[in-house]
Order: sequence, then C-alpha cells, then structure tokens
Amino acid sequence: MKKIRKAVIPVAGLGTRFLPATKAIPKEMLTIVDRPTIQYIVEEVVASGIQEVILITSEGKSAIENHFDYNYELDNVLKEKNKHALREELARTSNLIEIVSVRQKKPLGLGHAIWMARHVVGDEPFLVLLGDDLVRSETPCCRQMLDLYEQVGESIVAIQRVPMEQTCHYGIVEGEATAFERTCKVSRMIEKPSLGMSNSDKAIIGRYLLMPEIFEILGNTKPGHGGEIQLTDALQALSNRRGMYAYEFQGRRYDAGDKLGYLKAIIDVALDHPTLGGPFRKHLKAVCGNDDCRL
Ligand code: G1P
Repeated sequence: MKKIRKAVIPVAGLGTRFLPATKAIPKEMLTIVDRPTIQYIVEEVVASGIQEVILITSEGKSAIENHFDYNYELDNVLKEKNKHALREELARTSNLIEIVSVRQKKPLGLGHAIWMARHVVGDEPFLVLLGDDLVRSETPCCRQMLDLYEQVGESIVAIQRVPMEQTCHYGIVEGEATAFERTCKVSRMIEKPSLGMSNSDKAIIGRYLLMPEIFEILGNTKPGHGGEIQLTDALQALSNRRGMYAYEFQGRRYDAGDKLGYLKAIIDVALDHPTLGGPFRKHLKAVCGNDDCRL
C-alpha cells in the first residue's frame, strides 16, 4: 500500500458569497480569530502527518502564498523591536510545511482544479481538502481518514448526515454499511441532487482520499452539474472501477464559505482560545442577557 504524502487544496474560487469583503482579498484569507481560514486547513494537514501541500490557485490569490512564505523585511523590523514571540509565531507559519502552487487558468470546476495537480502528485494516492470546510476534532479529520485507509486501502470520502432539505447543496452518497466503524461502501454518488433524486442524507464534506487513477478519469469527465467538471462525477467512475468508502468523520464541521457557518466557526474557536476564551464568554453571556444562557 502506497504511503500518502501529499494534500491538494483548491483555492482558485472567486469567493462571491463573501463580496464585497473578498473583492480584493482571497476568501481563504478571511480571519477566524487570529489566523486566516486557510491556515486552519493547512494545520490539519500538518497534524495528520502529511509532507507537502499543493495549492491550486488563480489570479489574485498570491496573498495565500505570501502568508506561508518568509517575509525578510517584516522579520527584520520585528527583530529590531525585540518582538521575539511574534517572530517565532511567523517563523512557525512559514515553516509549517512544503508548499507548491499550480495555477488553474480557467474556472472550469472543482474536478478540473484537482486535475491540475496531476503532474505534482504523480502516481500516488493523495488527500484533497476544500478550504470552505473547516473541521474541529480531537483527531484531525484527515488523520481519521488515513487511519481508515490503512485498513481498507481504497479511496475514501468524508461524509456527514444533513437534513434532507439541505442535500441539494452537497454531493450525496448512497451505500451499504460495512464492518468498519462509521463506514459504508459507496454504490452511487450524485452532485447536488434535486429533491426526490436520492433518499440518502449522507453529504460529502470537503475531505477526500483518492487513488491516482482519478486524474485519468477527470481528464475524460464531461461538464456536469452547473456546466462544470464535477469531482463527484469522476468519483462515481472511480468507485465503479475499484470501489470507494464513505466515512462519517468524528468532529464538528463548519461551512466557512457561508456567512453563518463562518460566524459559528469564529465563536467556537474564540471560546476555546487560551487567552480570549474567558473574556469572550463573559461578553457573550452579557449579550445573551439571561440566566438560561448555557455559555
Ligand atoms: C463541493 C462539492 C460537493 C461537496 C461540497 C462540500 O461543492 O462539489 O460535492 O458536498 O463541496 O462542501 P461546493 O460547495 O464547492 O459547491
């Protein structure tokens, strides 16, 4: 079984759901308490034991690359001002992991974005993390998937159960339970089904562990839902060819690409923050203004 060493993170999207905030900055650079969203994603990759991140970028996304780079000028200024703790924090960010970036020149869909990584990933299984999906969990979501991969040796998509009326916003998986805990064998996948197209509530969230055959399949995948090359369509083909598992991960997922999901992520991260958590909780209690508040 080939070891998984690389993670692909597509960040080429325009971020229209957050306009005007994202007119001049990438949505991945919006802050959750004290770090940009993308840093939480990269930190999950690092905590899962992966060695290399491949960012699929587009025009206007250089702030993301700069964020993980070393800034000589800034470091010198902080050095002169004896701001050692900050220097260390910045050094930690720039040394997190090896980062390579590839440009997606046209917005042809998520499937196309992943296909752009084929030359850098090569012939080995790899992870995909979508920047909008933030997962907070004791064991990083990707680590949970890597542990399952060691047992099943095939592709895995992370899923969560959603209310039926929300299934039209996700890739939906149908399948039978297996002997592996929280895991089912995929029989069918549908990208954003209209009501009645599927009775499954198993929604794909943005974490995938994929066999390299996906690249050849993506190269032959025709535009699907919304006229875009859909990763889900290629996953269905990969699942037909050699099998795929859907894993109900443990942890809490936030849709940080949606305003409400983003706010929920900020609140939960702030409440757990070592220094801000206490005073922030006090503030929230005052805002709630009643004794029933369970904060
Ligand atoms: C993408 C995928 C979809 C998945 C979702 C998870 O959709 O195409 O299958 O369920 O991410 O966040 P998007 O939200 O980018 O439209």
